[in-house]
Amino acid sequence: MSLPVRRLRILRGLGGQRTIASRLVTAASPVTAEYARLDNLRVRIETHHQYSAIKDDIEGLVLAFTTRTAPTSGVALDVGCGTGEFLQRASNLLPELELHACDTSPEAVAASARIAGVIAQFGDALRLPYSSNSFDVVWLRHVIYHLSNPRLAVHELARVARPGGTVILSTNCAGSLPQITTVIESALLSVGLPAVSTADECDDKTALSLMEESFANIQCERYDNSLEFNHLEPIVRYAVASLGVYGVPPTRAAWKSVVTVLCQNIADKFAANGGRWSDPKSVVLIAGRLIQ
Ligand SMILES: C[S@@+](CC[C@H](N)C(=O)[O-])C[C@H]1O[C@@H](n2cnc3c(N)ncnc32)[C@H](O)[C@@H]1O
Repeated sequence: MSLPVRRLRILRGLGGQRTIASRLVTAASPVTAEYARLDNLRVRIETHHQYSAIKDDIEGLVLAFTTRTAPTSGVALDVGCGTGEFLQRASNLLPELELHACDTSPEAVAASARIAGVIAQFGDALRLPYSSNSFDVVWLRHVIYHLSNPRLAVHELARVARPGGTVILSTNCAGSLPQITTVIESALLSVGLPAVSTADECDDKTALSLMEESFANIQCERYDNSLEFNHLEPIVRYAVASLGVYGVPPTRAAWKSVVTVLCQNIADKFAANGGRWSDPKSVVLIAGRLIQ
């Protein structure tokens, strides 16, 4: 069977060097595998909720941003809906919106379909299964960095949005969580695996310029925060739950070795920092209006 392939980007190695991780992967591989089950995503979300210096409520931020920038009645679509928590809150806060959802994860689709009033289906952001001019509001929350062709995804958002409709995108800012990123990359490289994240396809600046290409009335808000830990266990849990994003799920032979090195790296860094761990992070929310 001939599978679609794409080339992974050049990524950072240790000590700021750049290494070429030029390997071909199937389009259906690490991201799809990572989200086949949502357990790891839930661990990461829960860690942000519990261990952020400033209360981390990204869903609340996106909802508040929506009420400031977008129509609050009509038809809305959440692309890459994940756990469905956002849609649950949207249905309470914005009852005049008819809510649709899609994701390439069957578990995400099932979770969203369980929410009263939400119409959920399997759907790829690069080829949305909806007619043109269908939605007054379209969200793409923390998905764009996973997509092999972010520009095509933004064009798809513009295609399914109605003239006068609003597209809202959220994503992490480049350089977020430098310490956790470093210990994970170091563990991967030390067992001979490439330090290649599947969440590195589009940074916040690229996302903003893509939105500016397709939409008018761009509004952008940035929120700075940090993860703060004073014990090891939640850092380890978060880092281990991130390995699938690097294409190293527990089913992979090297997973155990990576976890062993990772735990040691975290313990060493934690001790060197005097039993504290502070990792800066930022997100941006970008809204654009479709004018035709
Ligand atoms: C980091 S999670 C974010 C989930 C949710 N939007 C949130 O902010 O909590 C990324 C989500 O994007 C979905 N996803 C990844 N690639 C996708 C694609 N090509 N089309 C649609 N969804 C995709 C994953 O299955 C996962 O649910």
